[in-house]
Amino acid sequence: MAVRPIATIGHPVLRQPARALTTGELASPEIQTLIDDLVDTMRAASGAGIAANQVHEPVRVAVVEVDHNPRYPYKPPIPLTVVVNPVLTPIDDEMVVINEGCLSVPDLRGDVARHVNVRVQYLDREGQAHDEVKRGLTAGTFQHECDHLDGRLFVDRVTDPTTLSTWEHFERFRREEFVERITAFVARVGS
Ligand code: NI
Repeated sequence: MAVRPIATIGHPVLRQPARALTTGELASPEIQTLIDDLVDTMRAASGAGIAANQVHEPVRVAVVEVDHNPRYPYKPPIPLTVVVNPVLTPIDDEMVVINEGCLSVPDLRGDVARHVNVRVQYLDREGQAHDEVKRGLTAGTFQHECDHLDGRLFVDRVTDPTTLSTWEHFERFRREEFVERITAFVARVGS
């Protein structure tokens, strides 16, 4: 298990759609080690999730976990989830504007519209199939990670560039308003 270097914006690996894994590949020591390393790398960087292409491995694997995250203290907890070959489908048209950041986009945050209710179909690290509904900020986190596997970054979805800010200036000028709105949203949708 190891913390791997994280690719940052501008590296082509982040723009390359990742390829699906066969169940045979998923069971291989190489991919099982990659999954362990994704968890270590996400936790070391205090990320809410990380996709394999962020550590220079363009395969459809991502991990998500939120447990009192210091980068995103308003995010409800998400148990450690390993998603392999995920397929994400919006359930309806309800959207929420979330201020996002990304381990591959250092020191930048911005507002992104995300679906509130999504269906996520994926394999876990043992190859078991899951079919789940995610809501709220949790749904937003899964959309962010699935975007990575399609070569997309949150900055692609920022429709109002004036919302872009450094983390310091988010804290100073945006945090209070955003956290108040998003805390009310989380209370309403429950996640
Ligand atoms: Ni990201």
